[in-house]
Amino acid sequence: MIRLTDRLRVLADEIKEKETMADIGTDHGFLPAYLWEQGICPKVILSDVSPGSLDKAKNNIRELFSEASPAFDFRLGDGIQVLSDGEVDVIVIAGMGGILMTEILGENPAKTRSFKKLILQPRSGQGKLRYWLIRNGFGITKESLVREGKYICQVLTVDPSGNNCAISRAIEGSGPNSIQYEVPPWILSAGELAEEFILRKRAAEERVLLGLSKSKMKDLEKEETVKQRITYLNSLLGGV
Ligand SMILES: C[S@@+](CC[C@H](N)C(=O)[O-])C[C@H]1O[C@@H](n2cnc3c(N)ncnc32)[C@H](O)[C@@H]1O
Repeated sequence: MIRLTDRLRVLADEIKEKETMADIGTDHGFLPAYLWEQGICPKVILSDVSPGSLDKAKNNIRELFSEASPAFDFRLGDGIQVLSDGEVDVIVIAGMGGILMTEILGENPAKTRSFKKLILQPRSGQGKLRYWLIRNGFGITKESLVREGKYICQVLTVDPSGNNCAISRAIEGSGPNSIQYEVPPWILSAGELAEEFILRKRAAEERVLLGLSKSKMKDLEKEETVKQRITYLNSLLGGV
């Protein structure tokens, strides 16, 4: 039986029984392997832009399951170009930068909206990804936090129809670099790591403020912005 890391497990838990899925940027392929082995997904598509990564997934599947199963569909290519409209229920994109994710999802918005659910785990640019999703009418329905080594990873579950955007409406109107997109108010509902996540962010902002205050080149506007970011984070911590 495949044992997933905590991060991959959080992604797997967002997929319901009988849903079909495509793992874009699959690399090792362990997530789709687990979903099929557990009988959760009857069909999985494993896709990667790198031939070396896709070979890694093929080798892992061969080693895990001695019999080749037609349930594993390997595709080499960029983003969701490898899929036809509505071909699967769920798209998972994990372990890449958030800006790259906006490029993958934004290349063909009609196709992106043809899937029922997106599960996104950006390694960077999380604020810019949230901004892009909300601006383009995608509904963030849930956020989870999960520890991986020294990192706290963020997992976004998204409804491409935008019908379920109750939580994301709360910050409409702020700019793409605003702290509200980096640490949205609903992160407080993301589980036991929420407080640590916000404290880490505040510590990072305090380091920036200290650097600015020591600098010979004064930038009072920047200092004021960082102070406002810290005030916002403190307001969230008051609610923890
Ligand atoms: C760090 S790995 C993440 C593997 C796995 N998804 C995970 O979360 O553990 C990122 C993978 O994304 C692939 N990748 C990067 N850009 C891509 C794109 N535009 N389309 C498909 N795959 C891409 C890379 O080749 C690499 O295998």
